[in-house]
Amino acid sequence: MNSTPARQFALQAAAVIVVLSLAWPYYGWGKSALPWQQTSLAIGVVALIFSTIARQAWWWRLIHALFMPAVWLTQQLAIDPGWFLLAFILLLLVYRGALSGQVPLYLSNRATVAALDALLGEEEAPSMLDLGAGLGSTLVPLADAWPQRQFTGIENAPLTWLCGRILSLGRPNLDWRWGDLWSVSLADHALVYAFLSPAPMTRLWDKAQIEMSPGSLFVSNSFPVPGVAPWRVIEVDCTPARRLYCYRIACSSS
Ligand SMILES: C[S@@+](CC[C@H](N)C(=O)[O-])C[C@H]1O[C@@H](n2cnc3c(N)ncnc32)[C@H](O)[C@@H]1O
Repeated sequence: MNSTPARQFALQAAAVIVVLSLAWPYYGWGKSALPWQQTSLAIGVVALIFSTIARQAWWWRLIHALFMPAVWLTQQLAIDPGWFLLAFILLLLVYRGALSGQVPLYLSNRATVAALDALLGEEEAPSMLDLGAGLGSTLVPLADAWPQRQFTGIENAPLTWLCGRILSLGRPNLDWRWGDLWSVSLADHALVYAFLSPAPMTRLWDKAQIEMSPGSLFVSNSFPVPGVAPWRVIEVDCTPARRLYCYRIACSSS
């Protein structure tokens, strides 16, 4: 089942084209104005049918069904278009990762941070890298708890990065970087942490195997590497349940 943003756009666009290509000639022939309320409802129904046939997840189907009726409803509110532009820019500044790599912002919870803290203690890992470090809410408490160890966070959403930059001020053992996680080397980090999405895991594991040192640890929150058995799974005691999938980099990996 393919559920990329491009696919969702194509499904919604197909519903718009089908409904408008029938409605426009019909109402044009009768010289009456297109009833946008009914038309938007019809597009919602057709989009629901298309997304069901395409076997999309239930919440995608819901989005498809409601999208055009919501557009019509919003149009009725006659809101100044500038507000939409502002909202779009703000969303882009925070959720850039969702657009470019299907990785939105959501944060590791406290129980997960505590589990990582315990893992750092067990591993005696001198350095940790958070790939897609969000607001810094994972690395900041860990950097405070382990002042002798080095922590690095890389983040590419502008507003999110800025929050983390402010939080990292005055913490010399926390290197807060702006950039793309794919361009950072994993070589110098004893523990690499990722809380991303299912989408990048196979590619990320390939990168980890090539770049990380033998014996170092790759930890993914919630999203396992497809087809690879983890060395250890840590069940984090929280609701909703979280799992830390830990992969030890083998000596023979290349
Ligand atoms: C699910 S959040 C996890 C945040 C943090 N690591 C935590 O555990 O609380 C994923 C983060 O990765 C960032 N991100 C997504 N793609 C990225 C990329 N290519 N390079 C750097 N950061 C990225 C997103 O902006 C988001 O802040």
